Amino acid sequence: MIPLPSLTSLHTAPMGTDLIDSYGRIHTSCRISLTDKCNLRCQYCMDENATFVNQSQILTSQELGVLARILVESGITKIRLTGGEPLLRKDIVELTRDLSSLKGLTDLALTTNGLLLSDLASDLRTAGLDRLNISLDTLDPTQFKTLSRRNGLQYVLAGIDSAINAKFGSIKLNAVILKNINDDQVVPLATYAIERGLEMRYIESMPIGAQDWDKSAMVSADQIHSILEAKLGPLEPEPRTDEASPAETWKVKNGGRIGIIASVTKPFCSQCNRLRLTADGYLRACLFSTDETDLKGFLRPNLDQISLIQAIRQTVWNKGPGHGITSNSFVKPTRTMHSIGG
Ligand code: 5AD
Ligand code: SF4
Repeated sequence: MIPLPSLTSLHTAPMGTDLIDSYGRIHTSCRISLTDKCNLRCQYCMDENATFVNQSQILTSQELGVLARILVESGITKIRLTGGEPLLRKDIVELTRDLSSLKGLTDLALTTNGLLLSDLASDLRTAGLDRLNISLDTLDPTQFKTLSRRNGLQYVLAGIDSAINAKFGSIKLNAVILKNINDDQVVPLATYAIERGLEMRYIESMPIGAQDWDKSAMVSADQIHSILEAKLGPLEPEPRTDEASPAETWKVKNGGRIGIIASVTKPFCSQCNRLRLTADGYLRACLFSTDETDLKGFLRPNLDQISLIQAIRQTVWNKGPGHGITSNSFVKPTRTMHSIGG
């Protein structure tokens, strides 16, 4: 990781328009989790017997609308809706419509496991959703069951077809590859995506699931790259158009694009511009933060807009330089991925 010189030793976030941290990183992107519930139980993400936040603690669509407006007015231009599984929210289409009309928001995206996508893709597109990421770790139903502890691959594939028909600005497929589970899927997934004009993205498995992180089970970015080149021919690196994008991308010889997110082996913390809002209203400056700010307290029982904005600015200002996953002093957050928002 590139060391970041701290701008100043100020303890209080400076006044100004940007959401800036003490290392000078300006934050323009926020991932908003709409629910911590999920209809899968992916091994790398959550426990089979995970418990969920009481529904009364989950932000309502009205509260989300207010928070999103304030975030956008504070400098956020990109929002990604996540979960758990965001399509489990009954109000997902209306919420998408409300958020997409926010003045100043230039990009509204959503990450889904695809199970419920088939019936919703077209409505989401019409409601103003720009981009979609769909998790797809395997094309093999038995592996799907092993990895996600549930059945349903056929629904995910139907969801992908519906999304293609709905003509989103972009559709990316995300895979986490684990040794001896789905590492035979690297090339089949790429081929499947390329045939459909979609970008396949591989994400290194991170220590954010319920189980102890088995780093030796992680298939690294370099390994994935080698597996792909051996079968698909030389991959041509693409210049980074967005410095803050976590993925490195390559053009495939016979057409198509591959992305790899090397969160573990090549952290991109020094360029990070992302915040995360949990479904129960906590703002986190980093996926791996061990502290978080309760924003719900500024929404309930009545909106305290000035304190809310200050709390957001201060959370950003206090952001640490990086996740330190591979350092000996790394402490895993108590929340697992499904309750933070992927
Ligand atoms: N490591 C990397 N990615 C993860 N995701 C969930 N848990 C992990 C993890 N431990 C990703 C999934 C999905 C998104 C919601 O988060 O692959 O694409
Ligand atoms: Fe659900 Fe996504 Fe976690 Fe899988 S990775 S259990 S689909 S939230």
